[in-house]
Amino acid sequence: MSDLGAYLRRYIRDIPDYPTKGVVFRDLTPLFKDATAFRSAIDGLSGRFRDLKIDAVVGVEARGFIVGAPVALALGTGFVPIRKPGKLPWRKRSTSYKLEYGVESMEIHEDAISSGQKVLLVDDLLATGGTARAAAKLIEEMGGTVLGMGFIVELVYLKGRDMLRDYRVESLVRIE
Ligand code: PRP
Ligand code: ADE
Repeated sequence: MSDLGAYLRRYIRDIPDYPTKGVVFRDLTPLFKDATAFRSAIDGLSGRFRDLKIDAVVGVEARGFIVGAPVALALGTGFVPIRKPGKLPWRKRSTSYKLEYGVESMEIHEDAISSGQKVLLVDDLLATGGTARAAAKLIEEMGGTVLGMGFIVELVYLKGRDMLRDYRVESLVRIE
């Protein structure tokens, strides 16, 4: 792991058996609370994609908003939210997906991505890859192209990358 990854790891708190027995929850709130660590994570993540010409950054509610919005500002793009069911007010598309600890749905506004747009998907953490794959499916159904996926943390042991083989995946902290 990079120096940045080792530095950021110190701000991630491990909570055993949350939200269910057997899951180790990786809590990023200490990282978000620390101005230097938070800025380093946002700079580090946006830096990984500076070579790409991105039209929009997409983030998945809720933690994906905390990371996605500042990455969008850093890359000079707008931000598109994918939300949990019932939160978006206008016409939308939706899909269901599996999590490490349950089943969820997500929704996006029909006009949020236009055909041909190049998108960067950002989230705080990659676990099984189910969330990112479902979000990419929504974006692609709307005619968008996912040029990259960026995460602060990757839980390597859950093999999320295997589900995301078609995409360029970058992460800063790899937890084995
Ligand atoms: C977490 C995390 C990712 C997702 C990763 O969100 O923020 O979005 O799980 O898991 P996966 O790779 O197995 O799909 P969660 O659904 O817990 O919602 P939250 O952001 O509202 O806490
Ligand atoms: N999202 C899915 N699995 C997670 C975990 N183990 N810790 C934090 N967020 C998660």
